Amino acid sequence: MAKYDYDVLVIGAGPGGYVAAIRAAQLGLKTACAESRETLGGTCLNVGCIPSKAMLHASEYFDAASNGTMKEMGIEVTPKLNLDAMHAQRRDAVKGLTGGIEFLFKKNKVDWKKGHATFQDAHTVKVGDETVTAKNVIIATGSSVTPLPGVEVDNEKQVVVDSTGALELKAVPKKMVVIGGGVIGLELGSVWRRLGAEVIVVEYLDKLLPGMDDDVRKEAAKISKKQGMELRLSTKVTGCTVDGSKATLTLEPAAGGDEETLEADCVLVSIGRRPNTEGLGLDAIGLEVNKRGQIETDHDFRTKVDGVWAIGDVVPGPMLAHKAEDEGIACAENIAGQTGIVNHDIIPGVVYTWPEFAGVGLTQDEAVEKLGDKAKVKVGKFPMMANSRAKTNHEPDGFVKIIAEAESDRVLGVWAIASVAGTMIAQATQAMEFGATSEDIAYTCHAHPTHSEAIKEAAMAVQGKPIHI
Ligand code: FAD
Ligand code: NAI
Repeated sequence: MAKYDYDVLVIGAGPGGYVAAIRAAQLGLKTACAESRETLGGTCLNVGCIPSKAMLHASEYFDAASNGTMKEMGIEVTPKLNLDAMHAQRRDAVKGLTGGIEFLFKKNKVDWKKGHATFQDAHTVKVGDETVTAKNVIIATGSSVTPLPGVEVDNEKQVVVDSTGALELKAVPKKMVVIGGGVIGLELGSVWRRLGAEVIVVEYLDKLLPGMDDDVRKEAAKISKKQGMELRLSTKVTGCTVDGSKATLTLEPAAGGDEETLEADCVLVSIGRRPNTEGLGLDAIGLEVNKRGQIETDHDFRTKVDGVWAIGDVVPGPMLAHKAEDEGIACAENIAGQTGIVNHDIIPGVVYTWPEFAGVGLTQDEAVEKLGDKAKVKVGKFPMMANSRAKTNHEPDGFVKIIAEAESDRVLGVWAIASVAGTMIAQATQAMEFGATSEDIAYTCHAHPTHSEAIKEAAMAVQGKPIHI
């Protein structure tokens, strides 16, 4: 009889966990996946990437019809919002995709263990009332919203909400205050702004979107303001009181100073996410978390405890679905004795606003710091205004910026603001994965007319020779 029930037990069925489970099963390992949610797919499919994109996409159409963009193209319409129907198509997308993972589990013979998982020892996990043993356990428990002291989230009441509550608002708020000008703040803030809310973003730092290139961060502020968002940068929220359907926030300059108050019908708390390790029983296996609450692993995703692995939002690195997926595949391959690798230096990031903000690799500041001298870094930039497709499509905002090492011409980072920047960044990511120089990109034939030609032109600009500007 086998010593363990399973070769692999994955805890968590988000993009990290469900992908790891499928890959492990594909490699011939007997696999189970524990999930405490009613449906598979984790944060991403249930309350993250997918529902937010459903609302972003639908609200983009509404905005194009109401802000004059359609009229510019000869289409005169007066849009009428049916918010219930918009929510219904979002729920439908989520249902279809989470159901799809259930189908993939069945197809690949991955057993879904329903319930909360807690370690008893390194190879024994209690899932609900069942005890499951496995030779290898992958922790893929993901992350949850970071709370803000003094600002209590109550998604039921819909006055102070987190991202999950902000996806479900039953009516368009008259005035919405978004705390945190990061990815969630800009994405969900722009959904409700497009649907008619007055949106004020309160951000602690002096710029939006920490982690992105400075030019993108500055331009993101300009574009957000142009689209009607009010930005309160270098400002912190110190408290919040709720009276019926109104919230009153107290704000202060981040550096300290006079307090002021701000009223809102809805407050979105989006100041980051933190790893899920509570109730997992890490004590029982002697595994500690780091200062940020994350589980540390080695390059192969092994934790310090033999037979226990970890991937996704619960480990260090950007909290992104595709990073979690790639780690899931690599971890399963390592368990199966293959060589699973993730290149953490080349993970693209995309903010799905309109236009989209995207980037991969180093920012200009990081490149200068890494090479130790400004002169060792070359930069080429090309505005979307000069890209024939973007111009024709009435999409004037944005640019592509390529950062290369001066001596070798090797591309170190690519940043883009464009309606389809998230799609464009894939080519830059692949080029960097293959160690491309800016010249390699400049001499690659790009179809015309496409937004991607701006990447070619930015690469030509690194050499100082763009054609269309
Ligand atoms: P998760 O997806 O969080 O999954 C972990 C799962 O584990 C959960 O389902 C949880 O219920 C389960 N679990 C936890 N503990 C236990 C336990 N003890 N027992 C059993 N089950 C447990 N990323 C992108 O790349 N693109 C986007 O467009 C994007 N949009 C987002 C929008 C929003 C509003 C949010 C909140 C996030 C978004 N993200 C996006 C981030 C993305 O959702 C996460 O990076 C990704 O889901 C992480 O995957 P994961 O598998 O590590 O964890
Ligand atoms: P974030 O880290 O992107 O942004 C949080 C922002 O809040 C930061 O700008 C920070 O300076 C600010 N902040 C922190 N404390 C504050 C305070 N007290 N007052 C005012 N501002 C404060 O986190 P966010 O937006 O919550 O997203 C969480 C994670 O989810 C991100 O790390 C991202 O990786 C992931 N995500 C990814 C998406 C995508 O890939 N398109 C979409 C949505 C989320």
